[in-house]
Amino acid sequence: MTAELTSGSPLAPLLALRGVRKSFGEHLVLGGVDLEVAEHSCVVLIGASGSGKSTLLRAVDLLEDIDDGSIQLRGVDIADPWVDADAVRARLGMVFQAYNLFAHLRVLDNLTLAQRLVHKQGKDEAEAAAIEMLARVGLADKATAYPDQLSGGQAQRAAIARALVNEPELLLLDEVTSALDPELVGEVLDLLVGLREEGMTMLVATHEMGFARRVADQVCFLDGGRVLEAGTPEQVLEDPQQPRTREFLARLQV
Ligand SMILES: Nc1ncnc2c1ncn2[C@@H]1O[C@H](COP(=O)(O)OP(=O)(O)OP(=O)(O)O)[C@@H](O)[C@H]1O
Ligand SMILES: [Mg+2]
Repeated sequence: MTAELTSGSPLAPLLALRGVRKSFGEHLVLGGVDLEVAEHSCVVLIGASGSGKSTLLRAVDLLEDIDDGSIQLRGVDIADPWVDADAVRARLGMVFQAYNLFAHLRVLDNLTLAQRLVHKQGKDEAEAAAIEMLARVGLADKATAYPDQLSGGQAQRAAIARALVNEPELLLLDEVTSALDPELVGEVLDLLVGLREEGMTMLVATHEMGFARRVADQVCFLDGGRVLEAGTPEQVLEDPQQPRTREFLARLQV
């Protein structure tokens, strides 16, 4: 299975969800989600609080089992219970709303941990890659700082650097700006816009419609456990076809 996972099909989209269903007890959260993310594209998930955006991202990162459907990474179903979940996660980068840096580790060690444990890199090699990545996100001088010595924006950029240093095939971002003060949101969004321009493949949940406009190739509106409407940012945000999408956007006053 591992060999098959690594190869996959070159013609398949990088990520494809087909009929993904998930309930918590009686509560249906994902009611048959179909979604594709092409390589080098950015798909942005929008929708009301509780519409299932985080559950969907967590399902892709295999942190949440699904009840039905398939989640294909390069054409291979990673939701299959026989799949090696750690091997799949090693190919993905996930960043959460509350950046989850390890508080007892310096920024540098936060970045090298997975490289050394999961990717079996040597210390020098891992540290060189980490320092290069920190420079890229503007944190070259914070390598030896501890997370509680960083601002919210810096901590979130460090968390993104930690995901990137493992060279993920797909970056999953869940509300990465919503815990930040408004003046810090811009620096994180600018970083993500840069990544998008470099061709990183991303699946992003956000309430930042400005960000969706700037980076999304496709915007998907989740409602009632399904993708109710999907299209370019112009289509979905400027000219929504579904009344529910219009109501949601009107509430945000975009
Ligand atoms: N572990 C869990 N057990 C029970 N219910 C859960 C669990 N995780 C999520 N839910 C429920 O699933 C629904 C979808 O939650 P989810 O966190 O995916 O929404 P969301 O779209 O990310 O919302 P937000 O915009 O507030 O982040 C919610 O009603 C939530 O209460
Ligand atoms: Mg959420």
